[in-house]
Amino acid sequence: MELYLRYLILDNQRHIQWLNTLSYLENCGARKIAEAEHPTLVRREMLKHAAEEFRHAHHLKEQMKKLTPEPPADYQDILGGHHTRRYLDRLELAVCRLTNEMVYPLVTYAIEKRAEKLYPLYHKALREMKSNITVMSIIKEEEGHLEEMEKTLEHNPFKEKVCEIESEIYETWWSKIVL
Ligand SMILES: [Fe+2]
Ligand SMILES: [Fe+2]
Repeated sequence: MELYLRYLILDNQRHIQWLNTLSYLENCGARKIAEAEHPTLVRREMLKHAAEEFRHAHHLKEQMKKLTPEPPADYQDILGGHHTRRYLDRLELAVCRLTNEMVYPLVTYAIEKRAEKLYPLYHKALREMKSNITVMSIIKEEEGHLEEMEKTLEHNPFKEKVCEIESEIYETWWSKIVL
């Protein structure tokens, strides 16, 4: 994985697609949080979380400007095809089959666990390759989200299982990314 990330950073066109892919996933996450909001009973933390995920999507779009004068205006050109487009839906569906309580925090928990591994590896590869792209501000905020989900799901018995499910989806996704 680390090796592929380094290879990806060297290939400008692919790097742009990768940033667009991450941005797409961040935007999907933000929309899922927004959709899960109650019309009026919206906690401040949830508002913050949705705002930060939207910010991540935008931040990644902004980073693309360092690689090209014309970054992709939309999400047509992403890596992983339908595996990327269906990533969160697949996870959500699998969690719903497991339990119908706390679906939103469980999905979010698994995603934050993934972000906790993926972004630092990407960050490390960026630094090693002396790239001027930065994702440090995302890493900091994802840490906060994970902490919040850990609290929400403190004694939830499905946490591990949901992460197992996510790992399977992730492995398939990653195998399509490296194609
Ligand atoms: Fe995020
Ligand atoms: Fe997050």
